[in-house]
Amino acid sequence: MLILTIESSCDETAAAVVDGNRNVLGASLASQIEVHQKYGGVVPEIASRRHMEAILPVIAEAIEQAKISLDDLDAVAVVNEPGLAGSLLVGLAAAKAICVAKNKPLIAINHLQAHIYACKVAFDEDLFPCVGLIVSGGHSSLYRCSGPIDFEPLGTTIDDAAGEAFDKVASMLGLPYPGGPSIQKAAEKGNPKAYDFPRPMLKEPDRMQFSFSGLKTAVRYKLMGTGKVDYEQLDIDEQTRADIAASFQEAVCDCLVGKAVQALKKCRAKTLCVGGGVAANAKFREKALDAAARYRFKLYIAPPSLCTDNAVMGAIAIERYKAGLFEDLDLDVSPGLVRDK
Ligand code: KG4
Ligand code: ZN
Repeated sequence: MLILTIESSCDETAAAVVDGNRNVLGASLASQIEVHQKYGGVVPEIASRRHMEAILPVIAEAIEQAKISLDDLDAVAVVNEPGLAGSLLVGLAAAKAICVAKNKPLIAINHLQAHIYACKVAFDEDLFPCVGLIVSGGHSSLYRCSGPIDFEPLGTTIDDAAGEAFDKVASMLGLPYPGGPSIQKAAEKGNPKAYDFPRPMLKEPDRMQFSFSGLKTAVRYKLMGTGKVDYEQLDIDEQTRADIAASFQEAVCDCLVGKAVQALKKCRAKTLCVGGGVAANAKFREKALDAAARYRFKLYIAPPSLCTDNAVMGAIAIERYKAGLFEDLDLDVSPGLVRDK
């Protein structure tokens, strides 16, 4: 079996060719980070235009690496939810065009399920049933996962996503986008105990929800008091910046790991699988490993390159192929929706 997978949900244009055993025969990725950096975040209209430029070369490169032609494919799979509408549409249009031209079946990929499936690709072990934690720029969600495409939502964030909080706090600190890697780097020289930032929701073990906006506001008050915000004028020394970054990172990671442990208890699950860009964070990985040893659960976190957006995790399409789940060519994008199946 040979499947072409396409990812264009946010600011990475990516394609991969995988076989039925999850071997990656080709993988190509064009990042837009530099384009959005000067705006401090992803600008949707620019993102979709960039996807338009990158999509065909990226697909061609993945096919070339795999040393196959489009005729050899058994199916074309594409992320159609969730994500930025204009960005998703570019990948979907490309996938449909190949399906029409080469008479191939179309498979839909749910981006969040794919983030968890990155663990399956990386470790090739039986992950399910498990609790799935997805921590990305747009999502901080917990799921009870009975199988690779069988997710039941447990809860999500009531305000900012974890990655979004990293990005916003980085911007307050004058650190470049994307904020996660910048904060991680700045935090290396900081004291994580310098500031005692809040750990929202941790004292409510039955609530499967996250909240990061209060934490973000606590950082803001620490930086500029309660007065008018003028980040441009912000004059803090390197050590203070590093200490705030380290203390903030510590608080976010405590919230994510603590809530995941509460979810495992609630579901009586013994396995935690984590996906999404924030799962690339070294402090998060360290704390999750500590918790796994302490509370005796199995932990799967893909290597950092498979945590941030990529098309390899689209190997989840193999599962839909095997289940005979193909789409009509009128398939649409669902920007904000999580597949409820
Ligand atoms: O999964 P992803 O690549 O794209 C979305 O689906 O959103 O996640 C991107 C998010 C960004 O907010 C970025 O700041 C964050 O993941 N991120 C990190 C790290 N690397 C990426 N956050 C913390 N530490 C990192 N090392
Ligand atoms: Zn993602």
